[in-house]
Amino acid sequence: MAENSGSPDPAANQAQDSQQQQYLSSFISEIVRSPLNLALVAVIAVLVYKIVKSKTRTEEPVPEVKKLPKLRRDFTIEELTKYDGKGPDGRILVAVNGSVYDVTRGSKFYGPGGPYEAFGGRDASRALARFAVDAATDKYDDLSDLNTAEMNSVKEWEEQFKERYDYVGKLLKPGEAPTNYSDEEDEGSQQETETKSENYEAEAKTDRSETEGKTKSD
Ligand code: HEM
Repeated sequence: MAENSGSPDPAANQAQDSQQQQYLSSFISEIVRSPLNLALVAVIAVLVYKIVKSKTRTEEPVPEVKKLPKLRRDFTIEELTKYDGKGPDGRILVAVNGSVYDVTRGSKFYGPGGPYEAFGGRDASRALARFAVDAATDKYDDLSDLNTAEMNSVKEWEEQFKERYDYVGKLLKPGEAPTNYSDEEDEGSQQETETKSENYEAEAKTDRSETEGKTKSD
């Protein structure tokens, strides 16, 4: 009794092994013979690869948001051109509808290589009005030839810039004197800056987790 349960019959074992091998080879030849089965195996392999890859993927590094001192001054269109993100501090300013915004934290859009690079250091109003990126200009543009719909579009875009970015000052008309902001109480605007930057970071986080969720469900 004890002998039987401790060491099974080697002949029976061999027979079992060869039966398993037969099953396996008939299973493989069944798959290889049918193109549909082959396609299914390929699909399964791709899915398994995707699952394994998404589990082993490391977190993408978060692009560092530059913290530059807040600017508060008016600009001529010529002065603005220096702030296209290629300067030593990487600051990017964009004018929309006569107001200048610091869009440095949106450098992935407006910085070198970004889709709206042409807006950096320029007046983007006409480009936004006409939905044509290359219509951004480094010459003074009074926008007087834009129609009502185009002007409304510029104003809507400006609202978005106001929400997302820090207002820096006015875009000066040729010959217009700059405002002296030195007496201005800074506390309120500082608080506003911090809130905007927190909002932006929160948005960036949501964007990232949405993208990750999408990739995982793909
Ligand atoms: C095929 C055409 C276009 C596509 C697919 C496209 C796509 C996008 C997307 C997906 C965003 C949102 C990015 C984000 O918030 O993460 C965006 C933002 C933006 N787009 Fe476009 N866009 C196109 C054309 C244009 C044109 C022609 C203009 C202006 C002339 C424009 C101006 C902007 C601006 C100003 C932003 C906001 C960037 C910011 O958050 O500061 N886009 N675009």
